[in-house]
Amino acid sequence: MAKPLTHTAGRYPTLQEAHSLHQTVRRDLAGYDRLAARLNSLIGVDMPASEKNRTLMACRLAPLLRRHGCENYSQYEMILMTGDPEATREFISSLTTHTTDFYREGQHFSLLPTVVRQLEQDKQTRGRPELRVWCAAASTGQEPYTLLFTLLESGVRAAPWSLKFLASDIDRGALLRAANGTYTADQTAKIPDPVRARYFEPPEIDGTLTVRGNYKRLITFAEFNLAASKYPFQYPFDIIFCRNVLIYFSHDSGKVVVDRLVEALAPGGFLFLGHSETGFVKNRKLRVVAPAVFQKV
Ligand SMILES: C[S@@+](CC[C@H](N)C(=O)[O-])C[C@H]1O[C@@H](n2cnc3c(N)ncnc32)[C@H](O)[C@@H]1O
Repeated sequence: MAKPLTHTAGRYPTLQEAHSLHQTVRRDLAGYDRLAARLNSLIGVDMPASEKNRTLMACRLAPLLRRHGCENYSQYEMILMTGDPEATREFISSLTTHTTDFYREGQHFSLLPTVVRQLEQDKQTRGRPELRVWCAAASTGQEPYTLLFTLLESGVRAAPWSLKFLASDIDRGALLRAANGTYTADQTAKIPDPVRARYFEPPEIDGTLTVRGNYKRLITFAEFNLAASKYPFQYPFDIIFCRNVLIYFSHDSGKVVVDRLVEALAPGGFLFLGHSETGFVKNRKLRVVAPAVFQKV
């Protein structure tokens, strides 16, 4: 069993200690394979063995090992094996990439007013007044908020719409930041002035911006694992954004996720993937309507 808080507990490690722990774990090929397999079985993310990935794992896990007083991967695995949910969470959080931005892959947001008009016409025929939206790898919130602002700017709140908006991610820490909705001046630089004025509180002295509470409350933030064997939704979604997360999955697991997303989509609904993720789509219920945008037929 790992020694609790002995290695460098209670103080910062010396550079030499930090370097030596990093070197020890980076050379542990079998330990790397076991931890990569554990990550894959938990969340579907694939980290094939390579020098680059071994270094990446060592860099990202070494601080956790130090905090737990572990001197190698085996000791750390003992902690994960206890099934402690917090330990599992920090393991997943450390090994996932949360890069995101407001208006990332902006063509998708330019297309939304057209998508909304089309859904509106269909809804008048079908008589369902709700617009159900799911942002499935929401990270720290920049993507769901961009989506929300763009939908609202496209008139979605006006009758006959009623917006149901779910933003999910595997990483609770990222979701907490999303729900908080506070961003630095740099992070919000791409947001057009009128959008900034309408949806954010007046800036702090250092330029920090926070999304207004009445808009944050339009989004439900929840933890959800895309690798789950069953998706629990009672009603289908009209728009699903699942961008820049499948790239971390193996080809086969990514295809399975796409099939589940298609099941969760209403007929006529739209699926948005990252521009480099279209290779995962082999589902005959989807037709391409724009780069990395699909409609369920
Ligand atoms: C690179 S970010 C992409 C964020 C956003 N979709 C975008 O395109 O800007 C990938 C996100 O996917 C999340 N993620 C990774 N594996 C996941 C899984 N199995 N289920 C749900 N979210 C996952 C990560 O926590 C991370 O926040």
